[in-house]
Order: sequence, then C-alpha cells, then structure tokens
Amino acid sequence: MAKTIAETQKESPEERSERVTIGRAVGKVILFGEHAVVYDRPAIAVPVTQVQAQARIEDGEDSLTLMAKDLGIEHRWGEPVPKEIEPLVALVEATLDKLSITAPPALRITLESTIPIARGLGSGAAVSTAVVRGLGQHFGHSLSSEEVSALVYGAERYYHGTPSGIDNTVIAYQKPIYFVKGKEPVVISLAQPLDLIIADSGVASPTKEVVQEVRTGWEKDMEKYERVFDGIEDLTSQARKAMISGSLLRVGELMGENHQLLVKLGVSSPLLDSLVEAARGAGAWGAKLSGAGKGGNAVALIRPGSEEAVAKSLEGAGAKSIIYTQVS
Ligand code: PMV
Repeated sequence: MAKTIAETQKESPEERSERVTIGRAVGKVILFGEHAVVYDRPAIAVPVTQVQAQARIEDGEDSLTLMAKDLGIEHRWGEPVPKEIEPLVALVEATLDKLSITAPPALRITLESTIPIARGLGSGAAVSTAVVRGLGQHFGHSLSSEEVSALVYGAERYYHGTPSGIDNTVIAYQKPIYFVKGKEPVVISLAQPLDLIIADSGVASPTKEVVQEVRTGWEKDMEKYERVFDGIEDLTSQARKAMISGSLLRVGELMGENHQLLVKLGVSSPLLDSLVEAARGAGAWGAKLSGAGKGGNAVALIRPGSEEAVAKSLEGAGAKSIIYTQVS
C-alpha cells in the first residue's frame, strides 16, 4: 500500500527515492455507434491492450514536475503552463484535489505512450487515465473506474469540446462496454472472444472538426441525419445481442452496415473505404471505419487464425500499420 503525504514527509532521502508508482492504461477502439453517440444513441467500444500509456510517479526533490516525453515538454508547477499540456496540468490538479492533497507535492510525473495520436485509439484519454491511476496508487487511494472516468472526462472536454464520454469510459473500465451518454455504462459479456485487426490509414483524424462537420450537416437536414442515427442505434443494439450470444458472423455484418451509414454521414474517405473492402475481400466477417473518421483507423472482425491474410490485404490497400488484438 502506498504511503500518505504525511508519512512520505517523514521518510529519509533513500526511502524516498524508492517510491515509484506506475499508472497504466490501454487504448480503445469503437466498434459501433460513433457520431450517433453524440446524439444520445448507444455505442459499443472495446479496450485494445496491445497499446499502452504509462505515468511514472516518483517522489521528487523539490517541486511538482510533469514531463510529457512524446511532446518533449517538461513543466514545473509555478512556471507558465505550455498550451499543449494545459489539460494535463488541470487534470493533475483535479486529481490531487480529489485525493484531498491541497498543496502541490514534490513529485515527478513522466508520461509515455505507445498509442498513436489522433488515430481513434484513445491516446489522450489513456494518458489521462494513467495519470489519475498513478496518482491514486501513489497516495494509497483506490479510485473506482467511475471516479477515474469522471476525472478524465474533464481533460477530454478540453481536447474535444463536448465529447460523448465513450473514450474515458471504456478506458477507465477496460472492458467491452455498451455506452449511452450520461448513463451508467453496461459491460458486455462476450460469449466468444473478438479477433480484431485495426488498420491505420496514416491520416490524422481531427475528432473535433469531424464532429463539427456532422453537426453542421445535422443542422441543415435534421430529418436525414436523425434517420441515419436511428439506423445506427438499431444495429448497435442488435450487435450487443449478437456479441452476448456469440454470433460473430452477425456482428461482422452489422459492422459493414454501420460503415455504410457512416459513409452517408460523410465521414469516410476513399482510403477508409478501400481498407474496409480489402478486409472483407480477405475473408473478414466485417469491417468499418472506427472513431471520428476522415482518417484514423478501420477495424475488422476476423476469423481466428486469419490475421496474417487480412493484414497482408490491408497493407496492400494502403494501411500504414496494423494492430492485431483479441478482446474477451
Ligand atoms: O475519434 P475518436 O475515437 O476519439 O472517437 C470520436 C467518437 C465520436 O463519436 C465521433 C465523438 C464522441 O465524442 O463520441
């Protein structure tokens, strides 16, 4: 069990240097319902354990320091906050507040991540989750998934404006979830593991902008967009049932239908369409774009053992990198 601040202050420098806590969080991929989820429809997302964010928390000599390795930024409390890490600094403060720590403690927080940025894999939410978990563990508080998720949502709002909250929820719970904005998430018990291939288009997906484009379209033609969202809601609820009963062929078909509705929303791209086609051509049960779209990833549900064939076909269609993951 980690020590409290008062106990920490009594430690000798040798004892202090041993106090290192690592907070970890995995990535995520949305299988159904992106965009529609912003309009109060359900969505399904699963954790991706092959990629990870990490927050290393060490007792420091003097002030609280945050080091974001990927961004090459080191920030000391009391100095001006670089714009890129404003949400993380605010998150550290909100977490310390939640842990009833009133003055910034002498800690060094180092962030590292193997999750590609802006590809719909939840890199921002995962880094934030690692920070919250790491600080909680370091001070001996066991924060619930719900508490972690709520803290991370604050940082997500900073990055994305008005996110639905699906990223912070699936990453904090680290389980397949059926999610409706503002409601308690429902964990899906999978009858069969899902073998997934995630193909990176190599193009950044600017979530905030794509969500805004959909909003503009919705404002112009509400009837059409609401009809599409209703269609997505219907297939998302069918997909949940198919996952619970283990009908993976059906889950795959529904992914294909979801992709077509995302095409109608205007958030696909020729490359994403080709990746979906390539996965289907190599025998995947289904494939679709995942996340905000325009760039980012396509995700395919594949037959166990077919990962090499599908990966090859996706690479041939222009995928820049491939992640294979099994969700159970
Ligand atoms: O691009 P991602 O994976 O961060 O997903 C965005 C999902 C949206 O439904 C488009 C937006 C949201 O807030 O849920």
